[in-house]
Amino acid sequence: MVTPTNYVTNFEPVGAGIGFGGSSLHEPPADYDKYADPVYPGNTVIDDPVISVRGLTKSFGSNTVLEDISIDFPRGKITTVLGPSGTGKSVFLRNLIGLLTPDRGEVWVGEDNITAMSRRRLLEIRKKFGVLFQDGALFGSMTVYDNTAFPLREHTSKSEREIREIVMEKLELVGLEGAIDKMPDEISGGMKKRCGLARALAMEPEILLFDEPDSGLDPVRTAYLNDLARDITSELGSTIIIVTHHIPSAQQVADYMGLLFRRNLVAFGRVDEMFNSWYAPCQQFFHGITEGPIGMSEERDQPELL
Ligand SMILES: Nc1ncnc2c1ncn2[C@@H]1O[C@H](COP(=O)(O)OP(=O)(O)OP(=O)(O)O)[C@@H](O)[C@H]1O
Ligand SMILES: [Mg+2]
Repeated sequence: MVTPTNYVTNFEPVGAGIGFGGSSLHEPPADYDKYADPVYPGNTVIDDPVISVRGLTKSFGSNTVLEDISIDFPRGKITTVLGPSGTGKSVFLRNLIGLLTPDRGEVWVGEDNITAMSRRRLLEIRKKFGVLFQDGALFGSMTVYDNTAFPLREHTSKSEREIREIVMEKLELVGLEGAIDKMPDEISGGMKKRCGLARALAMEPEILLFDEPDSGLDPVRTAYLNDLARDITSELGSTIIIVTHHIPSAQQVADYMGLLFRRNLVAFGRVDEMFNSWYAPCQQFFHGITEGPIGMSEERDQPELL
């Protein structure tokens, strides 16, 4: 059994005893039934989900990126959505807030089907969300301070004094209080990410969507960010959905995890269940095994996983 030394996690293989790395899938016990595994799609039932996705399919021309995806996001919890690069994680997040519209399927935010509502109502629903886009998506002509203040000025009638208090609090949370007057061009990629995060937090939204918050961040700041995410859920009761392919970070921060692979949601469950599962896509993805349904490129992936 190989245990990479850089894999700093609280992961402890339990019953399954699956090791890290290597080239072969571990043979499950004779009585293992993948259809009964909690991580098999549809087997983990979430009561009172904050967002429910049903049969979501999204194509660009002849390229079907997401196909028939159904998932429920637990309220007040952190869920990470993992998947190889190019699987459609960012496209998926954009569908959750109506920035993209599915070709088929529905996205429910609480009692509201956002795929069948007026634009005006959609803009209302979006106020429940704070979003950190993959590239930070800062306004290039605004300072760090003004970028963070933007949603408060746009969506609230707070005074500049009240806004200043909130903005400085959020910028301190992400360690940017010393960069308030800088323009996006003058700060590093990681700082842009953190500014995008401060802006997403400004309204203290019910739901936070983070697209690869840890890419471009060093390990220490990533750990801070994970702590921050946990504090936000415990103190504000917010729901956080994080898209990433950084497994150790995803494992540290999440309550639940979904695995996207080749257009489908191939597994979903509690973090411990996902890491200890005998289910081949989980074993392979979480433990870095070269043999299995996930190939080096899409062409080398097995067409049929489930
Ligand atoms: N607006 C668009 N028009 C056409 N194709 C798109 C568009 N947006 C995304 N795609 C395609 O959808 C697929 C999934 O892209 P997406 O950005 O969601 O991947 P990802 O999983 O977020 O990857 P990464 O981990 O590298 O960020 C890619 O093949 C991409 O080319
Ligand atoms: Mg992406």
